[in-house]
Amino acid sequence: MVLKGISLVILTLHLLCHVSLVPDDLTPEEQQELENIRRRKQELLEDIQRLKNEIAEVTSEIENLGSTEERKNMQRNKQVAMGRKKFNMDPKKGIQFLIENDLLKNTSDDIAQFLYKGEGLNKTAIGDYLGERDDFNIKVLQAFVELHEFTDLNLVQALRQFLWSFRLPGEAQKIDRMMETFAQRYCHCNPGVFQSTDTCYILSFAIIMLNTSLHNPNVKDKPTVERFISMNRGINDGGDLPEDLLRNLYESIKNEPFKIPEDDGNDLTHTFFNPDREGWLLKLGGRVKTWKRRWFILTDNCLYYFEYTTDKEPRGIIPLENLSIKEVEDKKPNCFELFIPDSKDQVIKACKTEADGRVVEGNHTFYRISAPTAEEKEEWMKSIKAAISRDPFYEMLAARKKKVSSMKRH
Ligand SMILES: *[C@@H]1O[C@H](CO)[C@@H](O)[C@H](O)[C@H]1NC(C)=O
Ligand SMILES: *[C@@H]1O[C@H](CO)[C@@H](O)[C@H](O)[C@H]1NC(C)=O
Ligand SMILES: *[C@@H]1O[C@H](CO)[C@@H](O)[C@H](O)[C@H]1NC(C)=O
Ligand SMILES: *[C@@H]1O[C@H](CO)[C@@H](O)[C@H](O)[C@H]1NC(C)=O
Ligand SMILES: *[C@@H]1O[C@H](CO)[C@@H](O)[C@H](O)[C@H]1NC(C)=O
Repeated sequence: MVLKGISLVILTLHLLCHVSLVPDDLTPEEQQELENIRRRKQELLEDIQRLKNEIAEVTSEIENLGSTEERKNMQRNKQVAMGRKKFNMDPKKGIQFLIENDLLKNTSDDIAQFLYKGEGLNKTAIGDYLGERDDFNIKVLQAFVELHEFTDLNLVQALRQFLWSFRLPGEAQKIDRMMETFAQRYCHCNPGVFQSTDTCYILSFAIIMLNTSLHNPNVKDKPTVERFISMNRGINDGGDLPEDLLRNLYESIKNEPFKIPEDDGNDLTHTFFNPDREGWLLKLGGRVKTWKRRWFILTDNCLYYFEYTTDKEPRGIIPLENLSIKEVEDKKPNCFELFIPDSKDQVIKACKTEADGRVVEGNHTFYRISAPTAEEKEEWMKSIKAAISRDPFYEMLAARKKKVSSMKRH
């Protein structure tokens, strides 16, 4: 509209200029006419200036609108994106950048929100930030976990949600802190399901281990639901958890494995529970030197052996503390031996069940074991070595198990 107006004025001016070029031997009427035209021209020029000014004003107004709202927003978004990038490379620096540029408030709640939304954030980096040891990060972790709503979810559902919101780091202390916070939150949202947060904590790990046992192709013996139930006896402060509950959790994992972000095939369970193994092995007797086939389970830094896979009570328990392992030659193939280093004749602390049911101390100065294949021998030795080499996480878990299963007596 405005532009059309200008064109019209210019066109008119053009015509007027032609008129003004006529010679000046004019009649008074013509003189008058010319005067009128000149005045008109002046008026039109003024009109043009006014229109030009108006246009400039409107244009600048439009531009200003853009800069105060959009341009500011664009600037902000750019900085947030930069903050996210920084965060993914170095979480602490990223957070610091966002705070210094007023894009994030320096409170544990605001930072927790930011991480919980997680937009554009690498979940490994989120895990690294939440796992940091200092008080402020621990507060953020607390706030982060409290943003999760677990009410009326079963433990597997809650774990699915939790383990998807960041990647659990690989350090024992960090995992311990994070899972402890998780267990507290779960119990807070679902009072009465477990006797204590320790129970919730231990069962969470039992479930993570179950996930690996059931879904990792390297684990050949898939536990049955009965085994899962029996493995979790006594963890509810000395009492048992309802079978239905355990069955549901088992089925849920069986039907759908846990997903973890940034899954590089090196899942948690592999890092932390690698030593867990079970399978058939031959064991040389202590007094009577005969080979007996036994179902061995390596867990909690102990080697348990059973007569049948379905037995509830082991025939024997060998704590691995202070023991060493070595390969040995025997008439049987694929043999290895557990022994006490630097003391040949000392009896290894262990126990076994006699035929009449009495539990007695073992009388072995060494345990000689034969695996069915060379490959299995290697795997067993590797797992036992790892168990012996004191994984701090094992010890934490084992300590809690001891705590919750001893509570019955009180
Ligand atoms: C945020 O606050 C914490 C403690 O409240 C402080 O240690 C930290 O330096 C602050 N960070 C920034 C970037 O201001
Ligand atoms: C997240 O960070 C980890 C570790 O730095 C890296 O291995 C992974 O590829 C990153 N993921 C994405 C989606 O960029
Ligand atoms: C569960 O098992 C699957 C398949 O082995 C694996 O990809 C995933 O990382 C496991 N989840 C956890 C939490 O260990
Ligand atoms: C292992 O050795 C330590 C220190 O010598 C000892 O206190 C502990 O009782 C031993 N444990 C076992 C199971 O023999
Ligand atoms: C243990 O075995 C030794 C011989 O190897 C034997 O002298 C000792 O009596 C046995 N002790 C028990 C309690 O069976």
